[in-house]
Amino acid sequence: MDTIKDKNVLLGITGSIAAYKAAEIIRLLRERGARVYPVMTQAATHFVHPLTFQTLASRKVTVKLFEENDEKISHISLAQLADVVLIAPASANIIGKLSGGIADDILTTTALATRAPILIAPAMNNVMYENLLLQENIKRLKAIGVSFIGPEKGKLASGEIGMGRMSAPSQIVEYLERTIQSKDDFQGKTFLVTAGPTREPLDKVRFITSFSSGKMGYALAEEGAARGASIILISGPSLLEPPREVEFYSVESALEMHEKVMEKFAQVDGVIMAAAVSDYRPTMKEAGKIKKSLKEGFALKLVQNPDILKELGRKKRNKILVGFCAEVKNLEREAKKKLEVKNLDLVVANDLTLEGAGFGVDTNVVTLIDKEGKVEHLSKRSKKEVAKGIWDKIKKLMER
Ligand code: CTP
Repeated sequence: MDTIKDKNVLLGITGSIAAYKAAEIIRLLRERGARVYPVMTQAATHFVHPLTFQTLASRKVTVKLFEENDEKISHISLAQLADVVLIAPASANIIGKLSGGIADDILTTTALATRAPILIAPAMNNVMYENLLLQENIKRLKAIGVSFIGPEKGKLASGEIGMGRMSAPSQIVEYLERTIQSKDDFQGKTFLVTAGPTREPLDKVRFITSFSSGKMGYALAEEGAARGASIILISGPSLLEPPREVEFYSVESALEMHEKVMEKFAQVDGVIMAAAVSDYRPTMKEAGKIKKSLKEGFALKLVQNPDILKELGRKKRNKILVGFCAEVKNLEREAKKKLEVKNLDLVVANDLTLEGAGFGVDTNVVTLIDKEGKVEHLSKRSKKEVAKGIWDKIKKLMER
């Protein structure tokens, strides 16, 4: 496998007894054709002399943030050239600093300035690893897409047996290969993603909508773009900032979303309908403002909006169609029904009664059901991680 041939791996080495294992990591990476740029924290230099890594990587090791006589290797140039940043071993200190956004040395500034994926292989004493603050820091980093490899349970430097031993160099390198491989797996493909709620106006100041925030759809757009797809994001009103790399359209009502989706459908390889499209809209639309003077009140009459996804299902041919389904009961049965009626390849079902699932929150708990009836449960995780799982599934469906 030459997945990492000619890739630039920035290897951050921090102050841990496991620093010596970084030598093996460099050897394995170079054996596979990668270029390794070692960066050491000051603490790491107490464990292994930089010369060891310099010799193995055939490259100067960066230790200081401000190196004299070498303007080329700054934190910015390192951050930009990296295809992936691997921190192995990662101490509790570096994990804490990254989680807090601190940038006070060459490794932390580079990690903050890079767009490359960041992989962290922790190594520390078991009590430190189980410390709640450290666990919180890991959780925060995971939520923004940082990946963790290990640690493992085993014999620690202290002689105790516990959780905290760095994963084996071969495992770390395998994980890194998979990351690089999946990074570009949608290169050359175009996907349309819809997100957010729609607004169905009643008059100039009022509308009917849902609690949808757009978080799931935006996470899908961002992840798709990170994996090389060209993304067209059509969003109803949302407070979120659209990801930089996507072609973005903002719409208000279901009818507007319908029009924009139909306009773009011909040019895409697939559609993910994550938007919470309003099924109905008011028949009336008061040009001005509905007045309080209507003493008897009034009945609001609604008509059905077009079902965008169902219409796409009729036109789909070999395009991939992914729908969402939010239910409060009979989740799987309802989801399977939708899959069939709308002619979908995949339905992402969420049970709105579960804690940490559905509208507005940062996490989701979903069940993926494909057209062959295969059911996969993804336990509670960040919407970014859910997005990864959905794209992985789409990849498999496209390979079939
Ligand atoms: N959808 C759509 N156009 C609509 C309504 C929904 O494209 N007018 C899409 C959503 O983006 C989502 C899926 O269809 O991907 C949801 O299906 P839907 O039938 O709306 O689910 P529910 O509203 O939950 O349906 P029901 O009320 O019939 O259970």
